[in-house]
Parts: sequence; C-alpha cells; structure tokens
Amino acid sequence: MRFAHISDLHVCSGPAAGATAREDIIATVEALAGDLARIAGCLDFIVLSGDMTDDARPESFRKLEELFAPLALPIFTVPGNHDGPAAYFREVASGRLAEGDLTGRVVDLGAVRLLGLDTCVENEATGALSAQALDLVARELDSNDLSQLIIVMHHPPFAPGLRQFDEIVRLEGAAELARLVAGAARAPIVLSGHVHRAYQARWNGANCFVAGSAVLPFTAEHPYGDGPIRPSAEQRCYFVHAIDADGMHVVTPQPVRSVASAREPTRADPDGV
Ligand SMILES: [Fe+2]
Repeated sequence: MRFAHISDLHVCSGPAAGATAREDIIATVEALAGDLARIAGCLDFIVLSGDMTDDARPESFRKLEELFAPLALPIFTVPGNHDGPAAYFREVASGRLAEGDLTGRVVDLGAVRLLGLDTCVENEATGALSAQALDLVARELDSNDLSQLIIVMHHPPFAPGLRQFDEIVRLEGAAELARLVAGAARAPIVLSGHVHRAYQARWNGANCFVAGSAVLPFTAEHPYGDGPIRPSAEQRCYFVHAIDADGMHVVTPQPVRSVASAREPTRADPDGV
C-alpha cells in the first residue's frame, strides 16, 4: 500500500487578497499534480489533509478537482480552516468531494484503514475535536482490526515548537486524544497539515507526519524555539508512505519542483494558514 500525503494547497479560483504568493498558486498546484502524475503508477491513493482551498468558494473546490482529475487516483480529504469548514460540508452534501470525504468515517484499504476527523472551528485558525470525534477514535483504537489505523486531521495534535505557530496549532480536545492514543494497544499513524512546514514527530507512541505546503511554505523567519535551525525550501515537500501488512512503514519526502519557488513565494508570518 503506497500513498502520497499532501496538504494546504490553498487553491483559489480567482485572485486572492493579502498574500504575496497567491498569484502563483494555480501554477504551483499544477506542478504538484504533474509530479504526482509522474509517480501515480506506484500510488494507491492520495490523502489531502485540509486547506484544499484558500477561500472556500465552490469555484475553488471545482478548480481543485479539475487540477487533480487527470491523476485518476482516489483522493481522501478532511476540511481545513480555510475550507470553511461549512462550505466544505456543503460541497460534500451536494455530492462533490463526497466519495473522498473522510470526516467522521473509516475507510478500509487493506493494510491500512483511514479515519478522518474534522478539527476546524468556523472563522477560527485554531481547532477543536468534538466528543463524537473522540468517541470514534476510541472505538477504532479498541478495534480488533489488525490493519494500520491512520488518523487524518488538519490540525496537528501537538505544538511544533515554532514560536509564532504554537498558538494557531492549539487544538481543544488534544489532551483527551493524547490519552486515548497513549493507551492504545496498537498506535495509530497521524497525518496533519496546517503549519505549512513539513516535519515528523513521535507523540504518545504514534508516528505523526505534518505535510508542508507546496504553495505557501513558511521558512526562513521561523527558527525552532530560540535555536538557530532555519529550514530551507525543502519545506515545500510532501510525503510518500509505503506500508505493508508486516508492519513495514517507509516514508520518503518528495520535494515539489514548484513554479512558485522561482518567484520567492515564502511567507514570514503565520497569518492566513
Ligand atoms: Fe493552510
């Protein structure tokens, strides 16, 4: 079982205000889709962990579908804060995105099973987990199913240690989720986005992956804590996961050869994630 995890594409069907890079977004997402097309033959599906649009307009959701349609791969999604999320659920209710929407359900795919959580709060950058979402996680962690559980959620369940970002990553209910994961007999994998920087973590026994943003990576101005680490353009990457029934899990970072990278699209502040 092999899949790509991408996040935070912020597709907008028309010009968007307030962001220097956004004129390049469509071209960059086209480049990403082209890169995915190049390796599509060895992928089973794609996970998109939210902020698929920048403005939650129906035209933007349609543009996103149009950009990825040539891939002919299942795309599993959860909403990000930029997707409404009410607008996202209107799209799902109308039939668009419905097949790939993971929110509040489990999709069995052989060696893995995906569980999607809606972590978004309308008009807020920070997130929250509902009691129903936590109940669903508890039920799946208790399951006797031997396939690898993968939880997909836009907000990571822990702060990344980036001074300006730790506040917007705040997730109500994260402590309860941590308790459930720590007590699980078989640890899940957690896939997230939201931070616009790629990183990995082990959290309460779970391997966690935060995909970067191909279109709006946050790079040079954000050192970790008080330290000097200033990641480079490698933040503009996604992950390719290979998982088999014997427990092997290999993760390969895949840099995006973006159109925007030549146009200096990086942002120095966390507004608009
Ligand atoms: Fe985002």
